[in-house]
Amino acid sequence: MTNFKTLAQTRRSHRKFTSEEIDAEDVKLILRAALMSPTSKGQRAWEFIVVDDKMDLEKLSDAKAMGGQFLKEAPLAIVVLGDPMVNDCWIEDGSIAAISMQYQAEELGLGSCWVQMRGRGLSDGTSADTVIRGILDIPENLSVLCVLAVGHKADERQPQNEDKLKWERVHLNKY
Ligand SMILES: Cc1cc2nc3c(=O)[nH]c(=O)nc-3n(C[C@H](O)[C@H](O)[C@H](O)COP(=O)(O)O)c2cc1C
Repeated sequence: MTNFKTLAQTRRSHRKFTSEEIDAEDVKLILRAALMSPTSKGQRAWEFIVVDDKMDLEKLSDAKAMGGQFLKEAPLAIVVLGDPMVNDCWIEDGSIAAISMQYQAEELGLGSCWVQMRGRGLSDGTSADTVIRGILDIPENLSVLCVLAVGHKADERQPQNEDKLKWERVHLNKY
């Protein structure tokens, strides 16, 4: 098992994947990390949709104008949903769940990338939320935060450069 210090350094966004399927146990572990993640008031106001259907992956890749095309080449996507009426921290809750899944994926040697959907859309003004809702039959009360692309890495990414960390953004006691 990789320690967290190393995991934090080696996790990078991966947008190119091999066609190899992801082991079902690994998918479960990734979702387990989301389901164990902290939430506001412990309300767990998120839901997740695992998508491995090729046609739906292709449709998801077209849910916004830019930045999500690679979803169609991913073997798996995890759509992160939240219920704004249950908790006003649904974005924070969903984000924490998403990054938890990304770190778990990395620990399993898999690549992942966050594809932002909330607030994004097509050039004709249709929101990504509306498009995705139509593809996956999402109930009205839930909003789409993001979609994670997950797969076996087909590209190599350098780990974070320790010397380039922006330590100047960290302030002690006062700004
Ligand atoms: C809130 C958020 C939204 C993002 N949206 C996208 C996206 O829509 N498409 C994409 O390719 N990458 C997206 N990313 C990934 C970032 O581009 C990536 O994390 C950043 O460039 C830093 O690179 P690294 O993850 O390899 O360290 C997003 C990341 C975050 C945290």
